[in-house]
Amino acid sequence: MDSPLILCFSLLLLLMPPRAAAAGGGSGGSGGKWSLLLTNVGISAMHMQLLHTDRVVMFDRTDFGPSNISLPNGRCRRDPDEKALLLDCTAHSVEYDVAANSIRPLTVLTDVWCSSGAVSPDGSLIQAGGYNDGDHAVRNYKPCPGCDWEELRNGLSQRRWYATSQILADGRQIIVGGRRQFNYEFYPKKSDGSYNLPFLVQTNDPRLENNLYPFVFLNADGNLFIFANNRAILFDHTSSKVVHTYPTVPGGDPRNYPSTGSAVLLPLRSNAGAEVMVCGGAPRGAYIRANNGDFVKALDTCGRIRINDPNPQWVMETMPQGRVMGDMLLLPDGNVLIINGAGAGTAGWEFGRSPVLSPVVYCPNKQLGSRFEVQNPTSTPRMYHSAAILLRDGRVLVGGSNPHIYYNFTNVIFPTDLTLESFSPSYLDPQFAYLRPRILLPLSESIFGYGQQVTFRFNIPPGRLDGGSITVTMIAPSFATHSFSMSQRLLVLDHGDVTPIARSAYRVRVGMPGSGNLAPAGYYLLFVVHKAVATVFITHPIVRNFPLSKGIRAGGVGVKGGVRV
Ligand SMILES: *[C@@H]1O[C@H](CO)[C@@H](O)[C@H](O)[C@H]1NC(C)=O
Ligand SMILES: *[C@@H]1O[C@H](CO)[C@@H](O)[C@H](O)[C@H]1NC(C)=O
Repeated sequence: MDSPLILCFSLLLLLMPPRAAAAGGGSGGSGGKWSLLLTNVGISAMHMQLLHTDRVVMFDRTDFGPSNISLPNGRCRRDPDEKALLLDCTAHSVEYDVAANSIRPLTVLTDVWCSSGAVSPDGSLIQAGGYNDGDHAVRNYKPCPGCDWEELRNGLSQRRWYATSQILADGRQIIVGGRRQFNYEFYPKKSDGSYNLPFLVQTNDPRLENNLYPFVFLNADGNLFIFANNRAILFDHTSSKVVHTYPTVPGGDPRNYPSTGSAVLLPLRSNAGAEVMVCGGAPRGAYIRANNGDFVKALDTCGRIRINDPNPQWVMETMPQGRVMGDMLLLPDGNVLIINGAGAGTAGWEFGRSPVLSPVVYCPNKQLGSRFEVQNPTSTPRMYHSAAILLRDGRVLVGGSNPHIYYNFTNVIFPTDLTLESFSPSYLDPQFAYLRPRILLPLSESIFGYGQQVTFRFNIPPGRLDGGSITVTMIAPSFATHSFSMSQRLLVLDHGDVTPIARSAYRVRVGMPGSGNLAPAGYYLLFVVHKAVATVFITHPIVRNFPLSKGIRAGGVGVKGGVRV
């Protein structure tokens, strides 16, 4: 009786596209659906940020040579300092309109390569640094139809290349580190310059670094959790003091560029301490070995730590496959998606191998040992310089991948990728449509104050509500590049009982976060998640548009929420 099954299985293997079959770790997945959105957005989506206008700003670098999309209005960029083309009439930034599934070109004037960014409380994207002539620049993108980048050539006091930005409670962003920068600074500036951060000297491996694009998170007490290489500190940026030094992650392998792993702040609750999880990366020495043509298997471990415990310790877990250059994204239901990247090698030009095509969903609240669920694979490798972000409808936007110094479409193992794909986690599966809540209130662009009680209204088809399984979550859209989603955070909001108000309409009182350290002022996505009793771990968010908050003024700050469309 066994043989027909075995035959069937081998047939399937034969039918699989060779790339997927060769990738390993891609097999055995189920759940989630991939769609190709656009075959050519003109650039390779190396940096991505969702804005409250439901547009995504993307950019790669100005010294890649000619992209596949022209600058707007027949414009050309003449730059004597440019490394690739002195006269470039092509764009290296685009704005993606999610609903229309279309793009328009934007104009960056200097090099934005390997930079950072954060969204200010008014909804503008503030991008920081880059390379060459752009390494001190700050660029502001205020979203509106027809708007374009504004560039401030000397907005930074230090060059910032491979630095990390994080939005703070006062609406400023802190920009930490960067290549040969063992310090941090703020933007916008008061009268301040930069401040030393010895931790970045201590975690800098000679000639290898392994601490670029540090993983920075804002703790609910206002301190920053800063992870670099294989360890972390809790840091008070107002007094420049290290508040706590955490133990080294067991194994001691590096997790930051070029041994690029990823990290998230796990969902925050008002009554529980914060937890951070760091996953993947490349073993110590992997970069040098890749340089010699030896592509070492990526790390398959994650370390999870309760950062506010009196004596915090890393708890290690093992992923279904090793992954370097993966992206970790918080999903509306509080699970973590680990997506993109490679099974061997490191970040850096030409140094990745064995694409990992299957994302993995990590369920933080399941039993230790059964938290990882392998998802359906894509057929497109997303290697160095790829990115992923959450969209407001719960899909994940995936793009980029260019491990080459130029745009190379032929005669290379991993051609420069100009496509955009989406991954729809299984909570979007049409078979669960009957359980999915539809938010009626609050409206999009509503503004809420900290600690405010807000009445939500939502619909669920008659007789389908399991009132005990409603959760309300809020997510800050993040700036994604180089496997790290900056300023990413998810808040699980406190709520009261769910009360029926009509045949299929319900009401619930929801408490907004209590402070700007929990939720810095700005735009957020609000989700009502309904988990069916019988369908374990399948939950059903629907996104309202961005809620947001306004800047802090005379004691009042808001976190605002609502629906648009
Ligand atoms: C991009 O442009 C290059 C050079 O003109 C061309 O070879 C390539 O086919 C284009 N790629 C895509 C995806 O359109
Ligand atoms: C990529 O293309 C450039 C020219 O456009 C070429 O000089 C370079 O050798 C190519 N790189 C690879 C890895 O083939």
